[in-house]
Amino acid sequence: MDRSLFTAVDDYLNERIVGSDSALDATLQSITKNGLPEINVTAPQAKFLAMLVSIHGSQRVLEIGTLAGYSAIWMGRALPKDGRLITLEFEEKHARIAKENIARAGLSSVIDVRLGAALDNLPKIEAERLGPFDFFFIDADKVNNPNYFEWALRLSRPGSVIVVDNVVRAGKIVDANSTEESVRGTRALFDRLATEKRVRATAIQTVGSKGYDGFVLATVTQ
Ligand code: SAH
Ligand code: DHB
Ligand code: MG
Repeated sequence: MDRSLFTAVDDYLNERIVGSDSALDATLQSITKNGLPEINVTAPQAKFLAMLVSIHGSQRVLEIGTLAGYSAIWMGRALPKDGRLITLEFEEKHARIAKENIARAGLSSVIDVRLGAALDNLPKIEAERLGPFDFFFIDADKVNNPNYFEWALRLSRPGSVIVVDNVVRAGKIVDANSTEESVRGTRALFDRLATEKRVRATAIQTVGSKGYDGFVLATVTQ
């Protein structure tokens, strides 16, 4: 693996076609400045998510795992004026910084950051009848990927799209004997996807400035 080459290519793509602006730059800076983990999606990946949201015509998006709001801001911008994005975050510090970044991006009326463990907030979102959601981005604690996938199905409609981040982990995903909870969680998700009749799914391996990883793309068929 040549991470420096992957990063050089990401830099080239960003400069040529992805683009950025002061609100996005400030969001990325807020991650390093405040010592948050640098586990946001890359800019090309974020734009890819945003393009999926708009190609799909999504109006309601549910994100699990906010961090500083970087992916949320990209996706929030892809929504129509009356679109809504709810994003779930467990860490108070992350949620606070995300709200600042979202306000700076002018998206406070579009993006709703909900503080707390996602598995506590998902039943509330259901009870509030905020679904069905058109698009899900699952990007939090990987051990809960099967649980988040169940919730996404529950809050979906036929045609909803579900993206799950970090499903390759530099190839660790093929280790059936892995003792890493995150790998076991994501393998359990793949087992679930293998048998679930209500979804059509694929996964794409990726390289970039965050290394070698991948994402699942699934659509709900019924
Ligand atoms: N989607 C973001 C990155 C999210 S990083 C981006 O690409 O910009 C994963 C986030 O999930 C972290 O901020 C972490 O605090 C949060 N998280 C971890 N476990 C969680 C849980 N059980 N419920 C909600 N959020 C959680
Ligand atoms: C981790 C989480 C992520 O969402 C990511 O994109 C990369 C790494 C992690 O928890 O290690
Ligand atoms: Mg991720």
